[in-house]
Amino acid sequence: MPNPAPPHMIDLIRKKRDGGELDGREIGYLVSGAVDGSIPLEQLSAWLMAAWLRGLSREETQALTIAMRDSGEKFSPARLGKVAVDKHSTGGVGDKTSFLVAPIAAACGLGVPMISGRALGHTGGTLDKLESIPGYRTALTLSEFETVLKRCGASIVSQTPTLVPADRVLYALRDRTGTVESPGLICASILSKKLAAGLDALVLDVKTGSGAFLRRREDAEYLAALMVATAEAAGTRTVALLTDMGQPLGRAAGNWIEVAEAVELLRGSRPAQSEDLRELSLILAGWMIHLGGAAATPEAGYALAATVLADGSALRAFFSMIEAQGGNIAVFDDPAGFHKPGATEVLHAWESGYIAAMDTTKIGWAVQRLGAGRGRAGEPVDPHAGIHFLARRGARVEKGQPLATLYATTPTLLAEPIALLREAITLSESPPDAVALVSRIFTREAAEDYLRDAVR
Ligand code: URA
Repeated sequence: MPNPAPPHMIDLIRKKRDGGELDGREIGYLVSGAVDGSIPLEQLSAWLMAAWLRGLSREETQALTIAMRDSGEKFSPARLGKVAVDKHSTGGVGDKTSFLVAPIAAACGLGVPMISGRALGHTGGTLDKLESIPGYRTALTLSEFETVLKRCGASIVSQTPTLVPADRVLYALRDRTGTVESPGLICASILSKKLAAGLDALVLDVKTGSGAFLRRREDAEYLAALMVATAEAAGTRTVALLTDMGQPLGRAAGNWIEVAEAVELLRGSRPAQSEDLRELSLILAGWMIHLGGAAATPEAGYALAATVLADGSALRAFFSMIEAQGGNIAVFDDPAGFHKPGATEVLHAWESGYIAAMDTTKIGWAVQRLGAGRGRAGEPVDPHAGIHFLARRGARVEKGQPLATLYATTPTLLAEPIALLREAITLSESPPDAVALVSRIFTREAAEDYLRDAVR
């Protein structure tokens, strides 16, 4: 049989525009044309907008994920001799769970090949935080990545230029064409990168609440179920947890101050302000350990995670990874002494009351504008900028009581973030209702049930 003629991109755009469904061959054509440049950007952009407006079916999402996964080099963890597990979060403020779950899972004998991202919009970036450690290299080659994984059990790195090149092209276009917030496109973008790392198991932390990218609960639920079903169909055991981003996670949001907070917990401290961070990290790590086969249940995984946190083995795994990637762990001898912000200011409560709500997206922008994030791609970030929260949602505060300490690159950068933070915090006479840290869990079965019932 002769090969059928290749599709025409104009037909694929019209098909999607009119609500049709592309088959695997058509999606494969589109992805390879995005990578080799044979499809012009205006046609890719038009197709992305059609996909954003019409949505992608489960089959299209699956085909797009696999075609993007296979668009470049892949990492093969089989040579590690360990089960490979990872955790991915959809983005948050103060979310530093990676610095806890990666070494915890490594200390339980699993391999954690974690390919992470930089600050995006109002959310922080794992790589920017790690680069606040002097000498830490995030851009490793795949062979260096493998060496660190063999030696330390965990490695946190940036995407290489050759891994999932299709996402590089499509993500940059989505960013410029208003087509980021589409469940099918987000699912394919995130999972193609995770699946290219050859994972055996994956835990997804899907955020909901005022600081999440998808604020509407039903959107977050749909994305969670879609990602679980798609990754499972590709052969990776996957679970998604819907978790609260209605306030920053833990007490620090920034770069160095987040790494320092994580190390404090790895050292066994239990500051009250960091309790949600500790609890969520143990729950996520418990699922990683369970899906990775090192514990019979997620609860047994949680107990194992708590043990390696308490006995110092997770801290040793974290420090060994930092040293293997060129970082200087001497800075952890005196984390507060190493913290040298250009300017500091304290925000005090302007009246007495309960902290009833926090607009966490606004708080994320305040952190970014202090210098911890970027105004445009490629700009440097200030490792020492950020916010320490001195009171959390639900706390009763008295007028004049310190609520937060802000750290900026220069004194002139303080005014706007202080105004944003003040706007973001609602003080009220009555306490807010409690919010569950983990509100829903999607296993493969739960995801299939949800998608069967979902009318979209
Ligand atoms: N993070 C990604 O990597 N891709 C998306 O589409 C959204 C968040």
